[in-house]
Amino acid sequence: MTKITIVGAGNVGATCANVIAQRELAAELVLLDVKEGISEGKAMDMIQTAALCEFDTRITGVTNDYPATADSDVVVITSGIPRKPGMSREELIGTNAGIVKSVVEQALHYSPAAVFVIISNPMDTMTYLTLKASGLPKNRVIGMGGMLDSSRFKYYLGQALHVPVTDIQGFVIGGHGDTTMIPVVRFATYNGIPVSALLPKETLERVVADTMVGGATLTKLLGTSAWYAPGAAGASLVEAIVCDQKKVIPCCVALDGEYGQRDICIGVPVTVGRNGWEEIINVRLTDEEQALFNKSADAVRAMNNVLTGICG
Ligand code: 2OP
Repeated sequence: MTKITIVGAGNVGATCANVIAQRELAAELVLLDVKEGISEGKAMDMIQTAALCEFDTRITGVTNDYPATADSDVVVITSGIPRKPGMSREELIGTNAGIVKSVVEQALHYSPAAVFVIISNPMDTMTYLTLKASGLPKNRVIGMGGMLDSSRFKYYLGQALHVPVTDIQGFVIGGHGDTTMIPVVRFATYNGIPVSALLPKETLERVVADTMVGGATLTKLLGTSAWYAPGAAGASLVEAIVCDQKKVIPCCVALDGEYGQRDICIGVPVTVGRNGWEEIINVRLTDEEQALFNKSADAVRAMNNVLTGICG
């Protein structure tokens, strides 16, 4: 019997829960928030769609009741404040680091065997913080960013080609930041045909630029950060874990020399299954791509260094 906990019942956490419930990825789903009534209300609202959407997942909403999350197979962390228009994800670190650290410690106490999926921003640094604060084996800590960014990359490619997004393959590596993510055009295809053979250079440059500011564009429109795609990306990552899919997914994971980096969590393609991320797919990057990746890693590392002052 699969049990999943989602910490944070804001827009992203609730959307993630809703997709997980509708796909029946768990027998039991716990939604936890610090704000009294929010998770209880959202869980009740969601469960009242069960007859309409035909799912059978038991959803429980709780206020800070960590014992209720006990023995979860997967814990998804969405806690913290979202960004406002004009803010970078990195600016959230001061508030979100303390929140995420406390959530990880409490959730881990009750679910010592869980795989942790991190959605809170700045996502790469929050993933690194989770790894350090938990002492978990590296495979059980996964940041979601690359899955979301790749979905946006595919969307913009699909729009540019006027084809269904489901016919597009492609992935984004590097950090989950407006200036740190790297949509890898060279490997993007439309049903196996390289997109570089189908679209002019300027269009591809625009697709890359739009992907990189995909989250910021939505934040400007919505007045807060996006939730449908981030929530669904989290749910798809959970699906790969609980269904032991062994899918190749670009995720934020700890590197130990792969891609020329160590002591950092950053986005690379990995296989994902029941044990968390299982294998890093070592794609051979061009010198130019590797230079971008190194620059991205430098920026993520600089952000990780801020943790020393915040979390000791
Ligand atoms: C985004 O890119 C919330 O970081 C998330 O929309």
